[in-house]
Formats: sequence, C-alpha cells, structure tokens
Amino acid sequence: MRYVSMGDVPAKRHTQVRDEDGDGRLLVEEVMGYEGFSGNESILYHLQSPCDVAEVGAFEPLVLEEWVPDAHVHRLTHTAGLAPAGDPVSGRRVLMFNRDVEMAICRPSEEMTGFYRNGEGDEVVFVHEGSGTFETIFGTLPFAPHDYVVIPRGTTYRVRCDDGPQTWLTFHTPGEIETPNRYRNRYGQLLEHAPFSQRDFHPPAALRTHRSRGSYDLTVRARGGLQHFVLDYHPFDVVGWDGYVYPYTFNIADFEPKSGRLHQPPTVHQTFQGPNFVICSFCPRNLDWDPLAVPVPYHHSNLQSEEVIYYVDGQFGSRSGVGAGALTLHPSGLPHGPQPGRVEASLGATHTDELAVMCDTFAPLRLTTLARDLDDPSYALSWHPAPASSAARSATV
Ligand SMILES: [Fe+2]
Repeated sequence: MRYVSMGDVPAKRHTQVRDEDGDGRLLVEEVMGYEGFSGNESILYHLQSPCDVAEVGAFEPLVLEEWVPDAHVHRLTHTAGLAPAGDPVSGRRVLMFNRDVEMAICRPSEEMTGFYRNGEGDEVVFVHEGSGTFETIFGTLPFAPHDYVVIPRGTTYRVRCDDGPQTWLTFHTPGEIETPNRYRNRYGQLLEHAPFSQRDFHPPAALRTHRSRGSYDLTVRARGGLQHFVLDYHPFDVVGWDGYVYPYTFNIADFEPKSGRLHQPPTVHQTFQGPNFVICSFCPRNLDWDPLAVPVPYHHSNLQSEEVIYYVDGQFGSRSGVGAGALTLHPSGLPHGPQPGRVEASLGATHTDELAVMCDTFAPLRLTTLARDLDDPSYALSWHPAPASSAARSATV
C-alpha cells in the first residue's frame, strides 16, 4: 500500500497536538500496526481514548456448524437462491473454512445498528452486486459492483447499503491480506509487470470527525467470538491519520489480465495473497493465439491445493451448468479439468467474457451445513459421459 494522510496530523509524531476545531483538548495518539512495531502501521489522532468503553456487554462465541460429507468429491454449490438475511456483518454465512481463511456469502437484508471491528483478522469483501459505503474510522469508503473491499483488522466500521440487492463473497483471515510479493520491488512499490498499479487502489474518500455523544454499540470479533461494548461517544472521533494501514477498494475491472501464445496458469490471475491461500481474478481477455493452442485449462492435480471458484458473470469456458453465484470446490487428492466436450468447443476461440473470483488454499477446506444444503451432488459425476439413449443403443445392436 502507499502512504496516505487524511485530516490534520502534526508535523512530528508523538508530540503534543490539540483539537483546534473543538475545546482545545490534547488529542490521543494511537499507533495501529502489524507485526509488533515491525510491519505497516498508521497513526490516528482521536478526541477520546480508544480504550474508553462505558459498558462491557456479553461475549458471544461464533460457532460454525461443520458438515463432514461421507464422500470426497468435487463439489458445486448454488448460492444464487439464498434468501437475504442479516446485516452486512451478521449476514455473512460461512460455506468453507480452515485455519487460514473463512469464505462466506452475504446477502444482507438489514442495516447495521451498531459498529463493528474485526480484532482477529483481515477481511475482503468481493461485491458481486450492490453498492453503498463502508463508513470507517479512517473515513468513508464508497463501494460499487465488482469491488474488492479490503479491511485491515482493527478498523472500526459500519456499512450503509444503497437500495437494491446486495450479494457479496467475503473472506476472513487471521493472517494479512497483501498484494503478491512478486509484484512489488524491495521498497514495496508495484512493479511494471504487476496486473495493477497503486492508482487502482482507492483509500477512503473523505474523513469526517464525529463529535457527538450518546450511546453507541460496538462489537469486536476476538478469540473466536463477538465481544459487545457500549461507548458514550461516536467511535469515528479521528481528527487525522496517516500511514500505510487503511481500508481500500480495488475493482476487478482494473485487473489487467494476461494472455499468452499458449495457456497461462492461474498464477497470472493472482490478485491477493494471505497465509497459505491466494485470491485470483479471472477477467474477460483475449485467449491464446497459437494455431494449436487449447484455450481451456489442461487437467491438473494441484497436489497440495484446494481450488474454489466463484462465478460472477459471463460463460466459463471449462464448465457447463454453472451460472452466476455458483461456486465450485475442486479439493486436493482429485485431478480436475474441463468437462466433456469443453476442450473441443474451445478450439479457435479468441476471447472469453468469464468473470470469476478464485481462492486456492494450501490446507484442506472444511465445509459447513450451509454448503451441504446448497450442494449439487450431480457435479461429481459431470465428467462421466452421459449414457447413450435407448434409440442410439438399439441402432448399434
Ligand atoms: Fe483448477
């Protein structure tokens, strides 16, 4: 990320600075950083101590209902028919998880009544449909369809949704969401061969300092649960901040896809990295131009990976029977590849309009009962040739 400064910050760190627009009180400096004091950090200047809570509420454990299937097979999950429920945080319904990442679908139907902070993980929200604003302690962050919204842990926020349906694919990781190391030089700047530049990443648009007093609910995710607090001041009390840690958006349309004379591996589509997982963007692009090229992927066994693809828009070349909102899981231990007829159908194709988000994990994924409820068991057999019709059989007899 690049350095950003918003609002009023003093010329020197760790010096006296007062609220010039208010009662002249000393502002409270908070350093928010990763890896102790060795990672990226931002410094925020508050009107109140960020430790100040008026009431300590309940701690509510977060429990995932695991489904352990009785068969290890490729899976297809249809999420398009999922009824909207919950708010932009409580409405995240986890489908798959391991120790590194949780993947959920969120179709919120309610506004948030309080504020939220993830105290144990970074978040990525891919906005399949919908728009609105993440109101955060760093400022307001508008979002639009096909945005990735990346929210560092420790960011207090509230989401305001515009009218209309919202469908999000969300990720939570106890690790750190970053752009891939190989896209950056030793100073952190994105390199010329990267599929995006710093200009494509959008920090909050505006910082508004709230000075109101009242009663404000704050929920903090920590230690596998939700800790509820009540504050008597508005939590967006930051007068200014600067640094490298802040929420941002990146629209998938700003990902510059790569094509080759022959098929390019998923690696070229990588967008983010987390601990033991990657997030990739499959975007509309020209296809391989060698006369003998096979434009769809070769069969492959990623021996240590689980591959999850969420289908956003367009026709996906190597699959049939998957539409927008479908999600495939190709787990480790099983090879996968184009379904019957898809290779032949792809020959000579010059362009694909597919739009999809992929998450590959290096550790096995566990499934929830929601994945069970949305599971399409016919997918495991979709590489098997359809049985010949009785007419065809009789013709060969
Ligand atoms: Fe694959």
